[in-house]
Amino acid sequence: MRAESKKTIVERFARHINRGQVDYLRAGHLDVIESERRGASFVDLFSHRAMLDCFTSAGCFNVGRGNVRIRAALRDGLQQYGMGEPGDESPPKLALRRRLSELAPGDLDGVLLAAGGGDAIDMAIKLARAVTGRPQIISTHLAYHGHTGFALSANGKAHYREYAEPLMPGFSFVPFNDLSAMRRVAGQNTAAILVEPVQGEAGIFVGTPDYLHGLRQLSDELGCLLIFDEIQSGFGRTGQFFACEHSGVVPDVMTVAKSMGGGLYPNAALLYRELPAVVDFLATNPDFHPTTGGADLGCIVSLAVIDTILEEGLCGRAATLGETLRGALDELRATYPRIIKEVRGLGLMVGIEYIHEFLGPMMSDALARHGVFAAYSGNAPQVMRFMPPPAMTDADMERLLAAVRGSVADMQTLLPVALPVARIPVLKKLLNDERVQTRLFGALRTTEDLLARLPRAFRRWGKP
Ligand SMILES: Cc1ncc(COP(=O)(O)O)c(C=O)c1O
Repeated sequence: MRAESKKTIVERFARHINRGQVDYLRAGHLDVIESERRGASFVDLFSHRAMLDCFTSAGCFNVGRGNVRIRAALRDGLQQYGMGEPGDESPPKLALRRRLSELAPGDLDGVLLAAGGGDAIDMAIKLARAVTGRPQIISTHLAYHGHTGFALSANGKAHYREYAEPLMPGFSFVPFNDLSAMRRVAGQNTAAILVEPVQGEAGIFVGTPDYLHGLRQLSDELGCLLIFDEIQSGFGRTGQFFACEHSGVVPDVMTVAKSMGGGLYPNAALLYRELPAVVDFLATNPDFHPTTGGADLGCIVSLAVIDTILEEGLCGRAATLGETLRGALDELRATYPRIIKEVRGLGLMVGIEYIHEFLGPMMSDALARHGVFAAYSGNAPQVMRFMPPPAMTDADMERLLAAVRGSVADMQTLLPVALPVARIPVLKKLLNDERVQTRLFGALRTTEDLLARLPRAFRRWGKP
C-alpha cells in the first residue's frame, strides 16, 4: 500500500481534489494519511503514529474503526446482496425499517431511506412543505444541516450559503435555545421547525428540555412539522440511542445518517410519524424523492451497527466517558480561565469554548502533535470539539486526557505572544481569519520541517 511517497500522494490530492484542503491540513499537522484503522485510532501511513480520532468525521465512527462484527456482517451480506434496486423492497431494507421504527421514540414508525445526511434533510423539508402547503422553514443560527440544496438553504452560517446564492426562498433563522425568538418568527406560514437537539457544528450546544418541549408545543399549535436532525447526535453518541430521548420530546420527522453506516458503508434515513397528511401524501406520491440511497448492503451494515450499540452498551459508555471527559475539561477551565471560557456537551459530544477564535485551530494543532486527531466546530472555530467513538477503551480515554492536558499546557507557552496581539482589533481579526491562520501555521510548519532536516544536512556536509 506504500508504493508512493507522501509528497506524491499529497501533490496528487492537491492537484486533483483540493489544494486549499491540503494547505489547511498541513498547517495544522493534520496531514495524515490513514492506513490501519482500528477502534478509536488510525495509523498514519508515513509516520506510523497511531492517532486517536476525536473528530470521527463529525460522528461517523461510534462503533469504532474497522469494527470486526460489522465487517463480518458486510462480508456475509456480500455473498447474496449488492446495492439492490433502490425503489424496490428487499429483506435487508424491510428488516432495517422495522428495527429503526422499533428503536425510535414514540410513534416515529415510518422510515424512508436516503443516500446521505443532506439527502435526508432535503427529503424532510420537501415533505414538510408538501404536507402543510406552506413555505416557511425555520432553522437556527449556525446550524449545520448539510450542503445539498434545501439543507444548505437551512445552514445557519451565511458564509456557506453565499457562494451558492440564490438559494431556496422561505428560510428563516433564529437563535438556538431561544423559544421566544422562535415564537416571534413562526406562524401560519410555517411548514417546519428544523433543529439539531444537540448542535454540532455550531459549537456543541445542548437543546434544553424546556426548549425542545416548547418547540413541540409550538409546532402542535401551528400545525407545522417538528424536524429533529440527529445525523450527528444519533446512534448512541449522547448517552441515549437518539439525543431527543433525553428530553422525551418526539419530533414529527427525524433524520439519521453518519454512524448508521458503521464507518464502512454510508447510509441515511428519515423517520416520520404516520400522520394522516403524511401517509396520504406519500401514498399518492410514491415518486416523491427517488434516490439511489438505501442499498441492501448499507442496510445490513446499519442492522449490525444497531446490534453492536445495544449489545455492547455503547449508549451507557458514551454517557460515562463523556462525564469523565467533561469533568477533566472543567478542571482545565478552572486552571486556565484566561483561555477557556466554557465546557459543555452531552455524552461524547463535547466542546471547549475558548475566549478567542484562533485558539480553536491552535488547540487542534497542539493536539495533533500529541497524537490526537481533532477539529474545531465547523461553524464556530472558537469551540474545540471532542467526538471520540463511544467504543473507545478506558486506556484511550486516559491517553486523550493526557494529550489534552499536554496541549493546553503547550498553548500556555504561546499565549504571552498571542494574547497581547489579540488585544489589537485589526490583528485579532487577522488571527481569526482561517486563510491567515493557514498561511501563518503553514509558514511555521515549513520552518519546522526545514529545521528538522538541518541536522541531517549538516551530518552529510560534514562527511569527507
Ligand atoms: C447535523 C448534521 N446534519 C446534516 C449533515 C449532512 O450530512 P451528510 O454529510 O451525510 O450530507 C451533517 C454532516 O456533518 C450534520 O452534522
